[in-house]
Amino acid sequence: MCGIFGYCSYLKEKSRKEVLEVLCAGLARQEYRGYDSAGLVVDGDKPGQVYFFKEVGKVAGLRKKIAASAIDVDKTLMEQVSIAHTRWATHGPPSERNCHPIPSDPNAEFIIVHNGIVTNNAELRFVLEKRGYKFQTETDTESVAILTKYIFDQHQEKPSFTDLVKAVLKELEGSFAFVFKSAHYPNEVVTARRGSPLLIGVKTDKKLKVDFVDVEIAGQDNSESLIDAPPAGLLSVPNATPKVLRTQSRAFMSEDGLPQPIEFFIASDAAAIIEHTKRVLYLEDDDIAHIAQGELHIHRLRRTEGGEPSPQQQAATRTIETLEIELAAIMKGKFDTFMQKEIYEQPESVVNTMRGRVNFDDFKITLGGLRAYLPIMRRGRRIVFIACGTSYHSCIATRAIFEELTEIPVGVELASDFLDRKTPIFRDDICFFVSQSGETADTILALRYCVERGALSVGVVNTVGSTLSRETHCGVHINAGPEVGVASTKAYTSQYVALLMIALQLSEDRISFTERRRQIIDGLHALPSQIKTILDLDGDVQQLAKVVGDNKSLLLMGRGYQYATCLEGALKIKEISYMHSEGILAGELKHGPLALIDENMPVIIIMTQDSLYPKVQSAFAQITARKAAPIILCNEGDKAIPANARTIRVPKTVDCLQGLLNIIPLQLLSYHLAVRNGCDVDFPRNLAKSVTVE
Ligand code: F6R
Repeated sequence: MCGIFGYCSYLKEKSRKEVLEVLCAGLARQEYRGYDSAGLVVDGDKPGQVYFFKEVGKVAGLRKKIAASAIDVDKTLMEQVSIAHTRWATHGPPSERNCHPIPSDPNAEFIIVHNGIVTNNAELRFVLEKRGYKFQTETDTESVAILTKYIFDQHQEKPSFTDLVKAVLKELEGSFAFVFKSAHYPNEVVTARRGSPLLIGVKTDKKLKVDFVDVEIAGQDNSESLIDAPPAGLLSVPNATPKVLRTQSRAFMSEDGLPQPIEFFIASDAAAIIEHTKRVLYLEDDDIAHIAQGELHIHRLRRTEGGEPSPQQQAATRTIETLEIELAAIMKGKFDTFMQKEIYEQPESVVNTMRGRVNFDDFKITLGGLRAYLPIMRRGRRIVFIACGTSYHSCIATRAIFEELTEIPVGVELASDFLDRKTPIFRDDICFFVSQSGETADTILALRYCVERGALSVGVVNTVGSTLSRETHCGVHINAGPEVGVASTKAYTSQYVALLMIALQLSEDRISFTERRRQIIDGLHALPSQIKTILDLDGDVQQLAKVVGDNKSLLLMGRGYQYATCLEGALKIKEISYMHSEGILAGELKHGPLALIDENMPVIIIMTQDSLYPKVQSAFAQITARKAAPIILCNEGDKAIPANARTIRVPKTVDCLQGLLNIIPLQLLSYHLAVRNGCDVDFPRNLAKSVTVE
């Protein structure tokens, strides 16, 4: 997790105040990635001098600290390089000391911001401490900062900043995105990634001469590791020179070939930079970008381990793309929280998922991103859905309809468990990777595992340009728009719709399914207005939150298509209101959970009318016989529901779509429970939006 941000400006007059504002705004937009502390570093008044600001908690606190400081904020800077970070703690608790940017030493010769985990931190730290270096923090990042200084100090001749960073990265294991700044390289920055997202925005006054950047692919680097501890346990690398990997990368110039004012924005997420520029370049794993004198150069570190690079990584250029998201799409608007806004966006976001893909007149589905792969998919022996959290629930929700329409068995896997089990995967498997962010570490690792074994990989992803969307063979963007609230809401419904569309597309050659397909496509047509109807129940749901809010626990029960709704509803409740909640398959009631039931146990039972309705009625009878008084989520007009029961009534739709409607009141309920409990809805404790570590 963590959000990193860098800002470099050249030939552009900027006050320090403006620079600080750019940094704080960049952090605030990435706060969902981690928010236990925030920090930044800007250039000082003398060469090599810097000002650090660090604060535990959110960016708002950091802003206050800056406002209260005595630095000259009006000072004009013609060139500057500044870096910033919002943290989600992995090594070392949230504290000012562990807050990034992390310096290498008291003089801050090298300063780093980092997203990810360096897994050989303990070894690095051991070796560097033996060598006499003193650590001030508990972070893994500090090992990297000190290692950078250590390697720099070994050189008799000053290496280029890029070569220095290459030598550092060669020693690291784990996942990372870094930005390096140094007093030895004023107005230069080096940024690199392996496993964590990173992009660079470019802003110029005039049009750029190029819309791509060359990549220098280095030769095999067989030089010895600098950190292999010799028998005495001490480092001995007197004249170590990292392999120099030179580049002829293309520089940025205006069309007239003259240098021009230029700004670069480095970020973990495009949301942090689109208010400045929509022109961005995504870095690939093992790319190293060097920014200096208004130029951007991209180099590649060829590693000897870690498998073959993907075609995207091997490409000779990195394209500067134009982003299509609007700033308004990531602002809260009239809502108090992003989560609330995103719940209310669902009538529109599901339409965006279907736009241009579902033809409601001739019942045709067109998913351009899959077209070339449909024959292979139809021949698949097995389908495996792989995801985490809410994305996993959307897979559970659509598994049955997928199996029904494709007649191919579908397995659903939690990415972490799938990897732990080293699950057998074969060439004729079709593996789906479902993810809002497209950056979830476990899902990415599972993807690479499946691709290595020859399976076809299909991405179902929200974030365009994310690692999953780039590394899968084919896929569908769910087009839900940016999701900022840590608790996923609109991404769930859009994933659900996208997976359904895929099942419909795969079954279009089966005459026997014509009627069923039409029924579902008609149901999809009605979906947006039905979601709107349910959103109008918000006041009732708020009352319900008062009824159940004082309890310690809340059970959600259902079966068939509604099991996923129960799991997802319970996840929403626990993650943002901190109330214990559990989704229970009603068919399993007698095998254990029934023991929990008495008059004090609050239960919501989902009894919408599908083929399993009689079975859920019998589960209802079993729990009411034990004196429970469940709240019933049922269809409008269902006369079989006891008159004295507390109900949430939703419109009826096709069985496989009903979960799309039933989840809405549960999202609203979790929201109101969280508000009632005084929780920070968009930033639940201990969580982050994008889980880029295993
Ligand atoms: C819960 C939630 C998480 C994510 C999970 C996977 O509200 O948001 O459970 O669903 O971390 O994230 P993505 O979908 O980005 O792979």
